[in-house]
Amino acid sequence: MTAGSSAKITIVSGSSRLESRVHAVVGLAAETAASAGATVEVVSLHELTLPVMVYGDRSQDDLPGVQTIRRHAAWADGFILCTPEYHGNMSGCLKNWFDFLYEELAGKFAGVLAVTGGGGGDMSITAVKTSFAWCHGFTLPYHVAARAVDFDAEGNLVNNMVADRIRRVAYDVVRYAPLVHGAFEEARRLGPGVQAGVAGAHT
Ligand SMILES: Cc1cc2nc3c(=O)[nH]c(=O)nc-3n(C[C@H](O)[C@H](O)[C@H](O)COP(=O)(O)O)c2cc1C
Repeated sequence: MTAGSSAKITIVSGSSRLESRVHAVVGLAAETAASAGATVEVVSLHELTLPVMVYGDRSQDDLPGVQTIRRHAAWADGFILCTPEYHGNMSGCLKNWFDFLYEELAGKFAGVLAVTGGGGGDMSITAVKTSFAWCHGFTLPYHVAARAVDFDAEGNLVNNMVADRIRRVAYDVVRYAPLVHGAFEEARRLGPGVQAGVAGAHT
């Protein structure tokens, strides 16, 4: 039994297209998290055709895609969030995923992965971490971006250093997610008082 064997990890593939290099990165992260002992679920946003979130439109609550992302998010202790970098930011579909969620992410833990054309990925990674933090989630202080040159013509990730960084993120999410989520749930049980810290805002 490994340290992370009780971890429930949802991996979000944040591309809106089937041909994306994001899927190779998600596959490696999923394989690594599973081999570390986690139960892993992958949410592929290109398969869900989520509408743009309309604040206050309760009819969106009944849409299968919305129910799917909320169920996978509520189930998880932690997340590995993978985004293509679009204009120095996360993809629109990953931001839309965030906009449908809030309580489901509070007190959870996330690692962030990016795929870029050639940039270092800092902008999109920071954007994902900022949105996760604004949902009262905690993020791993380590991350990785795979650039176009790190893949071969068939879309396979061929840069071993980048692959190892992805594995490192996956191992750490499996390691820390149950601890962070467990501590948050314990704090939440204290009620709304200040001693519960940020969890008191979610009672
Ligand atoms: C609308 C758009 C904006 C992009 N902006 C950036 C960018 O800011 N920095 C970068 O390095 N690559 C950028 N790219 C390239 C993608 O990050 C690159 O294609 C990457 O492989 C991710 O997605 P893909 O594999 O689905 O193409 C952009 C691509 C698109 C379509």
